[in-house]
Amino acid sequence: MKTLEQIKKVAVVGAGTMGNGIAHVFAQSGFEVHLIDVSKSALERAIETIKKNLTRLLQKEKIDEATKEKTLHNITTFDNLYDGIQGVDFVVEAATENPEIKFGLFRDMDKRTGKDVVLATNTSSISITKIAAQTGRPDKVIGMHFMNPVPIMKLVEVIRGYSTSDETAKLVFALSEKLGKVPVEVNDYPGFVANRILMPMINEAIQALQTGVAGVKEIDTVLKLGANFPMGPLQLADFIGLDVCLAILDVMYEGFKDPKYAPNPLLVNMVQAGKLGVKSGEGFYDYSESKKAEKVSSMFRK
Ligand SMILES: NC(=O)c1ccc[n+]([C@@H]2O[C@H](COP(=O)([O-])OP(=O)(O)OC[C@H]3O[C@@H](n4cnc5c(N)ncnc54)[C@H](O)[C@@H]3O)[C@@H](O)[C@H]2O)c1
Repeated sequence: MKTLEQIKKVAVVGAGTMGNGIAHVFAQSGFEVHLIDVSKSALERAIETIKKNLTRLLQKEKIDEATKEKTLHNITTFDNLYDGIQGVDFVVEAATENPEIKFGLFRDMDKRTGKDVVLATNTSSISITKIAAQTGRPDKVIGMHFMNPVPIMKLVEVIRGYSTSDETAKLVFALSEKLGKVPVEVNDYPGFVANRILMPMINEAIQALQTGVAGVKEIDTVLKLGANFPMGPLQLADFIGLDVCLAILDVMYEGFKDPKYAPNPLLVNMVQAGKLGVKSGEGFYDYSESKKAEKVSSMFRK
């Protein structure tokens, strides 16, 4: 297996909300990053977001101009997995939260990367053990669950599948620390730890909204001021992506066969209507004119 020192070139597969942040932190830590997505527009948006976030860090004097330039220089985009994955020393998969997409990707990546390469996944809820079983190297498959927004949030949940080796876990711990993150080891059960606790809360907030207990702003304000949360659960759901929240709840519902994880029908409806939160311009809040999430979506205006 590659040692930490041997990891120079990293593939990030999927350039959406999480992929761009993961590419950013690897590139800023000096790694050469291949950012891969099936969608050219997602790649373009990802580079724009990384530029914007680097400029913000520069303005706050957290980085200098040279670091900004070097970080951008370290990232190359690919709209083809086969070109992008060639010769990489480590992979983080951050594609759409859909088991079939991830299983297919891991089968392909297993064929096209050196046998000594660790394949990590940023999945929020899909079984690491099942993903690992798609490959001929289940000992080198692991969950590396970054939090959103990746350049800011310190936590990486490191999830060991049934066959993940100690060596792989150790490498991912060291790598996370090199990125300036704090890794925490957890085991492979649906939702792991972060989403096992977060998603039922978001689902309950949606339930409270749907049953008329309170409005969007009211629910968020109660949790912000009453529980000292930096943002309310509905705004957080918008930032995560309502499709991602739904996918995670579905996996937990299936995995535990417990109705307490059943996604609220309003969440299902909103995803079906294409109201996915920040990334689509509207969720519980309207992001079309102001990016500040101050305006409640017209769907919920009283
Ligand atoms: N959004 C969050 O807050 C959050 C937090 C932690 C983990 N995650 C996890 O990170 C992963 C990505 O989530 P996201 O929110 O960035 O999703 P997203 O919808 O913003 O982006 C997913 C990207 O994957 C791309 N994609 C789909 N199939 C692909 C393929 N075969 N090859 C390459 N790219 C492909 C899509 O084009 C899209 O750009 C998911 O597993 C999700 O559960 C999300």
